[in-house]
This record gives sequence, C-alpha cells and structure tokens, in this order.
Amino acid sequence: QQRNSSDEPIHDTPHCLVVPLPATGHINPMLQFSKRLISKRIRVTLVLTRFVSKSITATTAREEEFNVRLDSISDGFDDGGMEAAESTRVYLDTFREVGSGALSRLIEKQSDAGEPVHCVVYDHCIPWCLDVAKKFGLVGAAFLTQSCAVDTIYNHVYQGLIRPPVTEQGILTLRTLPGLPPLKSEDLPSLVSKFGTYPAIFGALVGQFSNIDEADWVFCNSVYELENEAADWLSKRLPKLTTIGPTIPSMYLDKRLKADVDYGFSIFKPSNELCMNWLANKPNGSVVYVSFGSLASLGPAQMEELFSGLNNSGHYFLWVVRKTEETKLPKNYCFNPEKGLIVSWCSQLEVLASGAVGCFVTHCGWNSTLEGLSLGVPMVAMPQWTDQPTNAKFIRDVWGMGVRAEGGGDGLVKREEIERCVREVMGGERGEEIRRNGDKWKNVMKDAVSEGGSSDRCISQFAGSLINQVL
Ligand code: UDX
Repeated sequence: QQRNSSDEPIHDTPHCLVVPLPATGHINPMLQFSKRLISKRIRVTLVLTRFVSKSITATTAREEEFNVRLDSISDGFDDGGMEAAESTRVYLDTFREVGSGALSRLIEKQSDAGEPVHCVVYDHCIPWCLDVAKKFGLVGAAFLTQSCAVDTIYNHVYQGLIRPPVTEQGILTLRTLPGLPPLKSEDLPSLVSKFGTYPAIFGALVGQFSNIDEADWVFCNSVYELENEAADWLSKRLPKLTTIGPTIPSMYLDKRLKADVDYGFSIFKPSNELCMNWLANKPNGSVVYVSFGSLASLGPAQMEELFSGLNNSGHYFLWVVRKTEETKLPKNYCFNPEKGLIVSWCSQLEVLASGAVGCFVTHCGWNSTLEGLSLGVPMVAMPQWTDQPTNAKFIRDVWGMGVRAEGGGDGLVKREEIERCVREVMGGERGEEIRRNGDKWKNVMKDAVSEGGSSDRCISQFAGSLINQVL
C-alpha cells in the first residue's frame, strides 16, 4: 500500500492510472509526476507495457524502489516491445487496438479488486487512452512530455497555420509565432522542418490535439516561468493546460532533502559506482558530460568528430555511449583513462548534480534540457531530431544557458566546432555569463515545485479537485 509523505496510509483516496508511452523519455517524467501525486494523497498505478515491465525487473529497479505501484497492459508486442514492430506506425496502431481493450480490462480488474479507478493520466502520444477513460466516465488528463513552445508549433500544424514542408510564406509565419522568439526553419522540430521523416511520430504529435478538448486536465512537463509566453498562448488554445514540471526528484533540486524515493526509470543498467568513483577526484566544474539520451543515434563519422573534439579540448570527459552505439566508436581510439571515461549508461541526474560536471554536451531531449536547467549546468547543444532543435534554440537564445555546436552543409558537427564550444562554455566570459544564468534557472526550477510554487500549485489543485470529487 502506498504512503504519503507523512507516512499515513492513503488507501481511501482517489486512484489514478498513469499511462506513458513505453520509452525512457516518457516513462521517466510520468514516474516522477506519479510520485508528486502520491505526495498529494493520490493513489497511483503506473501502467507499463508488458515488455517494459519484464525488462525493468531484469535490469534496474524493483517496485519498492520506484515507490509507485506498477501494473502492465499488452501493446501487442509482449516479447520485443516497440523494436519488434515492423514500423513505428504498425507499433502505434497495434498499441491503440490492443491497448484500448487491455486498458479497459485493467480498469475493470481494479474495480473488481476494490481499487476503483477515478482518473487516467495519459501520454499525449497515445490519445486513445482518453477515449477509454471517457467510456468509463473517468476523469481524463493529458500529459505533454515536450515543452509548451514545441506544442505551440505542433498546434499550429494541427490548425493548418503551418503547413509542412515549410514554404517561403511559412518561414514568414515562423518569425511571428505567438509566444516564441523568431524562428528559422532549422529551429523547428525536425519532424516539421524535415517533413516526411518519421511520419508516424509526426502523426502522433499532431494527432494529440484530435480529442484533447475533451480532456479534463492538460499537464505540460514544463515550468511557467521558463516559457510563460508560450504557455499563455497555448492556454488560449487548451484552456485546461497547466505546467507541472520539472518532473525531477526534489533531492536533486534541493540538496537538503533526503534521498528516499528517487530512483529514475531506465531500461538500461547504469554504471553508477564506476561513474561516481571516477568523478569523485575531479575538481569542481572540470568535467564535460556527454549524452545523447535513450534514442538518438550518431553516425560513425560524427562519433569520430565528437571523440576528437572532446579529446582535443583537453578537459576531462564522461561520455555515455549506449551498448548499441559502441561499434560506431572510432577504430583503435585511445585516451588517458584518467582524462576520459566512456560508459553505456549512468544515473544522469546524479552525474549532473555531482559538482564535478562543468559542461553538458547534450542532444537537447526535453528531459535532459530540464535536468541541465534544474542543476544550472551550462550546455553545448547538439540537437539531433524531433523537438531537440527547438529546445536548443531556447537553451542558447532564450535562457542563455549554452551555445549551439553548428553542423556544416553535410550536417556533420566538426571536431574543431565541438572543441570551440566546449572551451567557450568551460571558460571565458561567455562561460561566466552562462553560469550566472544557471544559478538563476536553478532557483526558478526549484521554486516551481517547492510548496506554493507555480507547478506545485497546479498539482495541488488537480489533487484537491480529484479528492473533492471522490469523497
Ligand atoms: C525522447 C526524445 O528524444 C526527446 O527529445 C523528447 O523530448 C522525450 O523523448 P530521449 O531522447 O531519451 O527522449 O531524451 P531525454 O528527453 O533527454 O530523456 C533521456 C532521459 O534518460 C533523461 O531523463 C536522462 O536523465 C536519462 N539518462 C540519459 C540517464 O538516466 N542516463 C544516461 O546515461 C542518459
């Protein structure tokens, strides 16, 4: 049985199912959001797919480590998950078909077990969950895993105000998008600027708006103070929108808080001890941490440029290269193990919070961006796809939290550019300015989720309304 922060049983309180898309960058924030709901006296069951559920027991965490009750539904690919589907479109279609029935049965099962469900919080990429919730007369809440700015852009596409591929006329629109700085085509989500790549994911992100007006709540994993203009504009389109981020364990935002309920989700096994031991004897702010998240995949030529750029910068580096990417490391690469460490996965928050890290070379996934901001770590943006180019634009030009490593005509970011960016962020005037901004954003993020902060108030309001409805 779940317990709230004052350790009272919370059995007689509303029960939420929280249903993420089965990907690290979606499960992680929805797991952390679940923990915040639990702290507000809401019972939560995090609903994973069967395959993910099996994978986590085999790798990282146990249920008690999550401190959130887990259950699972079939997505039609119980043995191989998303990777086993012949395409993303087939996966998403199958998940909708099989998952709708499975989620319905789970709701019935919970009811039969005396644990009736009152609300479904669902990932915006799987909006059919809202139809299931409504069929049972439940409260439905969308959870947007990307920024308000990015959702503003997709909403323009949904309304036909931006029609990819972006034409000259479209480029004019980009200069005046409400709530956003003037954008160039390269600042758009890649699914819009490179229209036609990953059409199924594009369809899901635009399709999230198809039934969202029927949702009772729309949560965005962002912070009002971080992008207030975009949030204000998006709220006009989605009046139920509230910002509830950053979904980062409080202990990383405020070192005085104890580390009790803060295991993140990942289907990869982290080399924590190795990383933390290696970082332990490095001076404050001396290490460049490099990660491209759970999905992005660099080509061998880009891996070689990155390796050389890091090595040539002369700084310590800790680089996450997932197992599936290892073969792309340059042949016969070698470096001083005191100077560099390559691991297949780490506990990113722990690394960023260690104090030794002075620069984060990032693909600008939204979770990594929020984590960099929350810990005030200066960033070198190397966006790869989806929302990352837009996040990179904000990192450099809106929040003043880093620089962007620019690619050439072939898209390759050269070693000299990487070295230049790392040096700029690690030292010099620009670095100083970014670090000052880092202190500011760190406080903004912490305040948002502290008692009475903008995100905390939104979560309390939701919890209060559910409790009132149920009791
Ligand atoms: C994806 C998309 O790429 C991203 O743009 C979108 O906003 C969310 O979904 P991903 O590419 O995995 O996510 O990036 P990101 O959003 O940054 O999430 C990665 C998560 O994995 C972060 O929470 C990060 O802390 C964690 N991580 C990463 C680790 O715990 N260890 C690592 O070694 C690397």
